[in-house]
Amino acid sequence: MPKLTYFGHAAFLLEDGNTKIVIDPFLTGNPVASVNPNQVQADYVLLTHGHGDHLGDGLTIAKRNNATIVAPYELAMYCQSQGANVHPMHIGGGHTFPFGRVKLTIAHHGSAAEIDGKLVYMGNPCGYLVTVGGKTVYHAGDTGLFLDMQLIGEMNEIDVALLPIGDNFTMGIDDAVKAVEFLKPKLAVPMQTFEVIDADPNEFARKVEEKGFKARVLDFGESMEF
Ligand code: NI
Repeated sequence: MPKLTYFGHAAFLLEDGNTKIVIDPFLTGNPVASVNPNQVQADYVLLTHGHGDHLGDGLTIAKRNNATIVAPYELAMYCQSQGANVHPMHIGGGHTFPFGRVKLTIAHHGSAAEIDGKLVYMGNPCGYLVTVGGKTVYHAGDTGLFLDMQLIGEMNEIDVALLPIGDNFTMGIDDAVKAVEFLKPKLAVPMQTFEVIDADPNEFARKVEEKGFKARVLDFGESMEF
């Protein structure tokens, strides 16, 4: 049974058997990070985009663990130039890894990394459909609401949908509730945020349940099997 652990913000650890998949590990400088980045073990690091609160500690975690970074091509090539092992992909493409299948979805957002005080283009941002142990997790990345979520929901049986609710930079709560109606996941989990985007995850959960879907608010550091 796969296990999901919430590190805070959009950072998760997905485990199935001995395989450890880390998504968007922004830990250094994250006031709600629930783990020390030096203690994170990973076989794969999935990155949705180049913003510092998603790329985060991805490079150092990948290099220390000799893990493979999976990312949209432009971001993957940047990570490779920094000495990481990479598996570049792109939107709409799927690949079967030893642990299971990964498919990239669209995300309406930006993807630049701030390097030496300058914004460096990192291609398009993405979301991820990750299927491990027969279960499918959708990590939306940072995105606004989009109607193609209906298609994602129609073509995939999503067990857990990880959705931003922060507003300002991404979907706010009401748009994220609409995303749940489009995606029809068995469980919706809000990605909680901080500072200008500290939306109330319990309000999201209540509104999702009013629509007849299940939601669960994960505390920072909390794990669940699914
Ligand atoms: Ni972002």
